[in-house]
Amino acid sequence: MTQPPADAATMEKIVALCKRRGFIFASSEIYGGLGSTYDYGHYGVLLKTNVKSEWWRAMLQERDDIVALDSAILQHPRVWEASGHLAGFTDPMVDCRACKKRFRADHLDREEMCPAKASLPKTDDRRHELTEARDFNLMFKTFVGPMEESASVAYLRPETAQGIFINFKNVLQFSRKKPPFGIAQVGKSFRNEITPGNFVFRTREFEQMEMEFFVPPDEAPQWYDHWKQQRLHWYVDLGLREDHLRMREHDLDELSHYSSATADVEYLFPIGWSELEGVANRGNFDLTQHAEYSGEKLEYFDPQSKERYVPHVIEPAAGADRATLAFLVDAYDEDDLGGEQRTVLKLHPRLAPVKVAVLPLVKKDGQPEVAREIVKALRARMQTEYDEGGSIGKRYRRQDEIGTPFCVTVDHQTLQDRTVTLRDRDTLEQERLAIDGLVEVLVERLAREWRSPKVAAEA
Ligand code: GAP
Repeated sequence: MTQPPADAATMEKIVALCKRRGFIFASSEIYGGLGSTYDYGHYGVLLKTNVKSEWWRAMLQERDDIVALDSAILQHPRVWEASGHLAGFTDPMVDCRACKKRFRADHLDREEMCPAKASLPKTDDRRHELTEARDFNLMFKTFVGPMEESASVAYLRPETAQGIFINFKNVLQFSRKKPPFGIAQVGKSFRNEITPGNFVFRTREFEQMEMEFFVPPDEAPQWYDHWKQQRLHWYVDLGLREDHLRMREHDLDELSHYSSATADVEYLFPIGWSELEGVANRGNFDLTQHAEYSGEKLEYFDPQSKERYVPHVIEPAAGADRATLAFLVDAYDEDDLGGEQRTVLKLHPRLAPVKVAVLPLVKKDGQPEVAREIVKALRARMQTEYDEGGSIGKRYRRQDEIGTPFCVTVDHQTLQDRTVTLRDRDTLEQERLAIDGLVEVLVERLAREWRSPKVAAEA
């Protein structure tokens, strides 16, 4: 399939909105920033937390065959020998002999000259030749304890998955599960990427949401299909446009050393079709490797069939930051409100950082007091925001830009008959509702969106 042209303008608008509204912004800004590291502000934290909660909900609450884990970021260095990361988690890298810039060889279009040359001043007449490709390990190295010596080397984990494999035996003992069952984990991973970029799409520090599903070997193909389907649906259920999503099966020469089959959930980002999540059939590679390196038996004994086997693993591996970016991109919209342009994030209500904003029309006549009373009632049930600053139009625009599905406005009439207006972010319809019962109305409207279609169908 041909790649559509990159849409740099849309990406720039999203980056600008994220900064303007305090979702995500460059890290260490007062020191000039640190390449491709980002900090999440208030709304960014709420949004990414909702993305992760929805993942946990799909893994834990809506099923009974997966348990949770939170393993350490620093692990025994032998973990990375066994997993193959120490020897093989590398990217081929080339350097420009003139400007010293570094590039991933496999990202260059068989160019022999430095891609940065085009953007350098014409007066720069040096030949920008590239070196031969060399392997560059992506793991961040550190030292445990006070001695900086080889015996104390440790690595920041480059994926959360290995923390799951090394705990297989522990979890099997205390969870009372038997294959097919899964272990899910969310947490930070670190990769010293040669060419990070495209905002939070590829960074050196990021959060992963990974689940390792352990199955009897002969059931692996069917579970691989199951997880490909489940993970694609998760994004659709949370509102991503179906025609901007696809599942792409890897060619044989793309497969990682451990995988017998991998498919990527791809999303049509402004940079083109790109990986959102990978689903891999890892076979018994990881458990076998860790058994060999640790000397521990990592297998399952079925007391009924008296069979002993090393389970095979199906792994859906997603990125929380990359998913957050996809939801932002997909929700971003501009429309025309009677000649005035409105920017709106049409986020799924389950993901929206704030569910409802309460706005007194004016900052007097007892309106703020009633608005505060409504906030108090709503706050117990949903993320609520109070805002009295600026014109009502400006305040609506602000809530549209952070994706708040509902705004409640307190006005002169409220003081007479205890009714308010409820404004819908997407339809812009306004209706008059009694304060008494408002909480229930909003809870009910949000609950309609709350249950995933899967669970609704089963109920
Ligand atoms: N355990 C398998 C594994 O880690 P991966 O395809 O390398 O597989 C899984 O990573 C997901 O993690 C990716 O699909 C992506 O969403 C996210 N991810 C990987 N590297 C990333 C980076 N440098 N920045 C942001 N997200 C990243």
